[in-house]
Amino acid sequence: MQDAPQVGELTPPNRTLMGPGPSDVNPRVLRAMSTPLVGHLDPSFIEIMNEVQDLLRYTFRTDNKWTIPVSGTGSAAMEAAIGNVVEPGDTMLVPTNGYFGGRMAEMARRAGGEVVEVDAPWGEPLSPSAVADAFDEHQPDVFGFVHAETSTGVRQPNVSELTGIAHEHDALVVADSVTSIGGVELRVDEWGIDVAYAGPQKCLSCPPGASPLTLNDDAMDKVLSREEPARSWYLDLSLLEGYWGDERAYHHTAPITNVYALREALRLVAEEGIASRWKRHERMAGALKAGVKAMGMEMNAPDEYWLPSLNAVRVPAGVDDGTVISRLLDEYDLEIAGGLGDLSGEIFRIGCMGHSARPKNVTYLVNALGSVLADEGADIDAAAGAEATAEKL
Ligand SMILES: Cc1ncc(COP(=O)(O)O)c(C=O)c1O
Repeated sequence: MQDAPQVGELTPPNRTLMGPGPSDVNPRVLRAMSTPLVGHLDPSFIEIMNEVQDLLRYTFRTDNKWTIPVSGTGSAAMEAAIGNVVEPGDTMLVPTNGYFGGRMAEMARRAGGEVVEVDAPWGEPLSPSAVADAFDEHQPDVFGFVHAETSTGVRQPNVSELTGIAHEHDALVVADSVTSIGGVELRVDEWGIDVAYAGPQKCLSCPPGASPLTLNDDAMDKVLSREEPARSWYLDLSLLEGYWGDERAYHHTAPITNVYALREALRLVAEEGIASRWKRHERMAGALKAGVKAMGMEMNAPDEYWLPSLNAVRVPAGVDDGTVISRLLDEYDLEIAGGLGDLSGEIFRIGCMGHSARPKNVTYLVNALGSVLADEGADIDAAAGAEATAEKL
């Protein structure tokens, strides 16, 4: 056996997080995480669960009873959604316009579903006519789309139109709202979304670990009348219902500290007001966008479907994206990311989410990025960028 490892005290670097998530965490959330643990069935925790559920309903803009934080990251909420709503033999229609549509497809297959696709290139939203055509051709039982595609910086517009098409065909709609919840206008009930899952570490600025999920009665009726149980025991919503529903009986030990964190993060949303929070993200990301454009760079997404929480900026000619990203991290303690898949090497992905969506971060980002790009020989005007951002803040 090896000797006890000699590991030093934890001293992570103090980064400014402006990548695709996690975002900077509000100190109030960190403080909530250092409060004492209670048991997951303690009467005081039951009260906290109720509060979190109410705050989640407010943030999702829904009255859905079935609104819970799933233990795990956004992918756990995603798998809880897809793995329960898709039954063996069902057909699920998924998008091809980004990385996370591919993950939806993978999860639907593992749930025993057949996957069909609605095509749109990476970097573009789905068009309602393409969705309607796919419905006519395949008659899917479930339709999934990504409201805020983190891999491309695209916001899906026309959501009500898409859900309308799905409902005309008696299909359920599953929306990925991981990168929109709490930062970009999202109206689950008004837009006719049957199931929405999300992540806490983006516009809610909460550490990952407890991930929002909401289902309306139509979706939950399907889940509760499945012929065979969901393939995951841990994420089986008919069992989780026992803990998060009226009964409050043990299923698994809730990640108590993550639930505390989510409660505080959602309290911040309620204090600010959801619509004001959407506006703040738009204003802060608008200043960021103005800055990169004034420098001479291009946004990958046009304004009609620009995603304020994730800004995809074209890498200027002659510059190596990886070098810029590493220099920002090493010299400025500033995290941004590069492109994925079809957009690898083509874009920078710059988050503007939650506690990171504030003048301090945006100013720092635009100045640091301008400085590194100029130093790398890019044909940009760093001073014009900084000035344009300052004007908008
Ligand atoms: C759009 C989208 N969906 C799903 C996920 C998966 O979430 P997680 O990485 O928290 O499991 C992410 C994570 O970045 C995301 O951006």
